[in-house]
Parts: sequence; C-alpha cells; structure tokens
Amino acid sequence: MKVIELRRKYVEFFEERGHKVMASASLVPDNDVTVLFTTAGMHPLIPYLLGERHPFGKRLVNIQKCVRTGDIDEVGDGSHHTYFEMLGNWSLGDYFKKESITMSLEFLTEVLNIPMKNLSVTVFEGDAEVARDTETYHLWKQVGLTDSQIYYYGRKENWWGPVGLTGPCGPDTEIFYDNGNKKCCVTCGPSCSCGKYVEIWNNVFMEYNKNQDGSYSPLKQKNVDTGMGLERILRVVNGKENDYETELFYPIIEKVEELTGVKYGKENERIFRIVSDHMRAAVFILGDEKEVVPTNSEQGYILRRIIRRTIRYIKLLGNNENILVEIADKIIDMYDNAYPELGDHRTFILEKLDKEYQSFSKSLVEGLKKAEKYFKGVSETKILNGELAFRLFDTFGFPIEFTEELAQEKGYSVDVIGFELKFKEHQEKSRIGASGRFNKNVAN
Ligand code: SER
Repeated sequence: MKVIELRRKYVEFFEERGHKVMASASLVPDNDVTVLFTTAGMHPLIPYLLGERHPFGKRLVNIQKCVRTGDIDEVGDGSHHTYFEMLGNWSLGDYFKKESITMSLEFLTEVLNIPMKNLSVTVFEGDAEVARDTETYHLWKQVGLTDSQIYYYGRKENWWGPVGLTGPCGPDTEIFYDNGNKKCCVTCGPSCSCGKYVEIWNNVFMEYNKNQDGSYSPLKQKNVDTGMGLERILRVVNGKENDYETELFYPIIEKVEELTGVKYGKENERIFRIVSDHMRAAVFILGDEKEVVPTNSEQGYILRRIIRRTIRYIKLLGNNENILVEIADKIIDMYDNAYPELGDHRTFILEKLDKEYQSFSKSLVEGLKKAEKYFKGVSETKILNGELAFRLFDTFGFPIEFTEELAQEKGYSVDVIGFELKFKEHQEKSRIGASGRFNKNVAN
C-alpha cells in the first residue's frame, strides 16, 4: 500500500464516522513552554482535552508532524525516528473506550486487512492511585481477542502523559502487530524487544489531570487520544522488516548511496539510517511555518545538533563533500505533496543547510583531532572534564551531546555538570562584556 493511500484511508475512515479533519499544527507548540517541539498529536489539543470547546466539534482526526529527541540514541534500529507522522483520532468528551476500541479494530482488520490473530494488546494493570482497567480488558474480549492476546502492564507501559509536569493524562491500551514468530523466552510479550511485537497504535483514555502536587483528579470530560505512527503501520501493512524499507525512507537511502558511492548493507546500516532519519527531521524543522534555524539555543540548538551529527555520520561513510543540500532536495520532492510547506521553503531549507555545513565542516576535522588529543590526555580516568568539553564546544562548535557520543564510542564519559558550569561562567562573562561596552565608565 502506498503511503498516500494509507493516509487517505485513515482520514476517510474517521471522517465517515463523524470526525472533522484538522490540519497538522506547527512542529513548534504554541501554547506549551515546557517542551520545544510537538512530540505528540495531543499537544495542540491540550486546552480542548481540558474542556474548552473546539471549533470543529467533539470528534476530530488528524495527521500531526512530531519531533522527539528523547529517543535519538535509538535511531538506527528499525523503528525509532526523530521526526515522524502521527495518525490520530480524537474524542473530546464524546465517545470513550468501547467505540475507540471497536473503530481501531475495524480499521486494522477491515481496512488494512491485518488478521486478528496477528494482534496483541496491552491494558493498564492498575496501581495504588488508579484501578486496573478491567473494562478495557472485557471490551477486547467482546470484540474477539483471546486471553493469550491481552496483557496487563503497569504505569511505565500503559499510562500516557502528561506532556509536561501537569495536564491531561490517563491509562492507555496499546495495540501491537505480532509477526507470528515463536516467543523468544517465557516472559516474551508485547514489551519484549526481540522483534516479535511491533507497537502500532496507542489509545489513551484521557480522563485524568495530573496536578502540581502530583495527585490525579478527574477531568471535566472523558477524552480519547489515539496515536498511530505512520512509519510503523506502513511497514507492517507492506510486510517490511523495518521502517527504512518503506517508501518513506528508502529513496533517501538510495540518494545517499548515489552521492557517497557506498552501498547500504548490514555493516553500515546504522549510519545510513541515522543520516536519512536526521536529514528528514532537519528538512521538516527548517520547513516548518515557524522557520526555525540552527542556533545555540532552544529549537535552533536541537536542529544544529541534528545537522552536525549528520555531517559527522556522512564523514564516517568516507565522504567529505557537502551532500546535505542534494539529500534535502530529494526529501522535499518526496514529501511536498503531503506537506507543501516544504516546497514553499525549498530555497530557505537548502540555504540554511548549506550555511550550517560551511560553518561546521572545517571545524569538525580540527575538532576531532583536538578531541583525540584530549581523550589521550585523560586516558587514566576516562572522564573528559568540563573545561575540555567546553573548549570543544566554544572553539569547534561541538554540541555537548556530540562530545558525549564521541566519548561513549571510546568507552569514556564526559563531566556534563562541569561543562554546564563552564558554559554559565562563559555566558556571565559575555554578558558583563556586552554591558561593559555601553558603560561610559569603562574605557573601550
Ligand atoms: N498521546 C499518545 C502518544 O503519543 C497517543 O496519541 O502515544
């Protein structure tokens, strides 16, 4: 199934069931200062989950652009991404568990033709604060799942939100695709990472608010927030081993092969995947209506980190050319049908990438040499101190996470607290320096 068809089928299915279609919000949240990027479809909907009336009504469907950097170290496996699209359907105080479960199952089995025997689900097992979700368990049984397909898990697996410290949240039921392989061990289940189970959909029953003091109180209304990662469901529907084999990524990998002359294979798959994942994220962040650019703070810092990490990984493929622009051009061609803002920002995206490449590529080579020297100097303790990590940042533009990754690859660590102290000291000095220039009592 083509991605264009999958997106359309999802939206149409929920439209036919009374949902109004909402456009994706910006990747930079409007009403949430606690997070830098929209990490889930629910961000733009927080006021409405809390009870405000949504202009489109109580049933909504959308495809939301999301960026999550919390999982960035896992990118390179088959299913974690910095940028991804989340298919979501929403009930704002309208239907609840029964309809949500029934519609999800119908979409998966009747529209996508996934056999029921290949599904497994997880349900919240309850704890001291919130009771076990036996209602959801019975609903899954009613629609035809057997006991062996239903698993109870705790808060870590089956509770979602809030996004910041406070806000809407609730127990969830997650739906997994089970590829039918033998269980890897006796405890193997949906939370196992052996590859037998792939999480495809998360239905959150948002009926609680987490308060400042850590307690939970019922929300004014019971909501449903579902999220299905487009990359994973596309992979499952097409019987692919991992997300990179789908049309959302494979053409990017081929472009990298063409530009570097290196073939994608088992030994370098992690590098190819990181490059294609990060380039896609960078293109979407640069192409967003909020026009984020690489800087040393907030969203701009994350973008810079992603681009600089990509430059290093391309170098690990043995390529020292600026191929960012050509990769980005390809990504824009692949996605601007669904996201015309990318085409509209094409020149802007390519220029910013080129500029970031120009400003970092030379210092990367010098900085890597310097880092080697620093690591040698601390070979006894295997801890790079804050001062040296700060020099790599200040002189060569190495984000601290970048230095940490270099260190980890050698089995070293970095004194991040020491780095932060140095960073603050430096900021303070620059502040005094800047104000001093305008102070008449200071000779300039
Ligand atoms: N908010 C939930 C998630 O991100 C469901 O959309 O998984």
